[in-house]
Amino acid sequence: MDTLKQITVTSPLIPPLDEFTPYLEDIWKRKWLTNNGHYHQELEKALCNYLGVDYLSLFTNGTLALITALQELRITGEVITTPFSFVATTHSLWWNGIKPVFVDVEPNTFNLDPDKIEAAITPKTTAIMPVHVYGNPCDTVKIQEIADKYGLKVIYDAAHAFGVTQNAKSILNAGDLSILSFHATKTYSTIEGGAIICHDAKTKQRIDYLKNFGFAGETTVVAPGINAKMDEVHAAYGLLSLKYIDAAIKRRSEVAVQYRNSLKDIPGIKFLDDMPGVHHNYSYFPIFVDENNYGMSRDALYQKMKDANVIGRRYFYPLISEFSTYKGLDSARPENLPVANKVAKRVICLPIHHELINNDLERVITLI
Ligand SMILES: Cc1ncc(COP(=O)(O)O)c(C=O)c1O
Repeated sequence: MDTLKQITVTSPLIPPLDEFTPYLEDIWKRKWLTNNGHYHQELEKALCNYLGVDYLSLFTNGTLALITALQELRITGEVITTPFSFVATTHSLWWNGIKPVFVDVEPNTFNLDPDKIEAAITPKTTAIMPVHVYGNPCDTVKIQEIADKYGLKVIYDAAHAFGVTQNAKSILNAGDLSILSFHATKTYSTIEGGAIICHDAKTKQRIDYLKNFGFAGETTVVAPGINAKMDEVHAAYGLLSLKYIDAAIKRRSEVAVQYRNSLKDIPGIKFLDDMPGVHHNYSYFPIFVDENNYGMSRDALYQKMKDANVIGRRYFYPLISEFSTYKGLDSARPENLPVANKVAKRVICLPIHHELINNDLERVITLI
């Protein structure tokens, strides 16, 4: 028997090759390959415009954008963050010698629970680093109130939140800085890539120094900056991909609707609904398996899907607080993080991307 076609959890948004060739020819002609070249500048402008933000600085990836965001704000000491994220969120703190302090997530969005932040603040706390998990906006108003009250900075890991708006405004404008990831698995990608969004020209200037070794002119270095500059080929790819992003998000939204219609009556399976006033990007479609009501464990369902060549992803599992680097921290104790621990044991992200056809969807739905 032929094995069935593999259905992957995502599929990269790749623009047509013949449309990319003229960009490459132009780069070859210009002979300017990196260091704030033509396409770098064009993509920064185009993304500000598309996303509805004033200042954006491109990076080679989201992790270096996170690390640099912390450098830019000179964050030290302790930072309050979530264990329910991709490990790069906490790694960015580690790389800056900052102690992560994990706070539990709230049970509706699985974003950092604002009601639990204050109890974790100490004299060493300097910032909060929340994540818009699956692109669903955090409670940015409450988080800002706490930050203002205690004099803390807020850096959003918005790696999942490309193009997400709330009440018609980009959520990337919340907090002091937000970072994006343009990794190949993300809804919008430059293959590898990322960005920091900030609110004024001076901050962007400093971020641009920091991503270029700290150079502030030919002979001046103002900080131990890193090399995180996006090159022209990736920037051109990003510029071309931007033409296809709306259609890709539209197809993702149709997939989400079909999943919701088909899964809504299955006992023991839950999913997230759209949030009022939010324009989503449908980056992920997580379902949450309650073993007792569903009659099968999350891992058994994950394996059953895998056996049928349908690849889900237990995202995020294990929690960051369970990895050896962080497990010894006081705040990493499971008793401190009951909601995050529960959700990490239940979640499977189902396949969702712009190339899924209805037959694929039926295969996934039938398995569940
Ligand atoms: C929440 C989150 N933060 C940070 C990152 C890191 O981004 P990158 O892979 O572009 O370094 C990712 C994705 O990979 C992510 O999902």
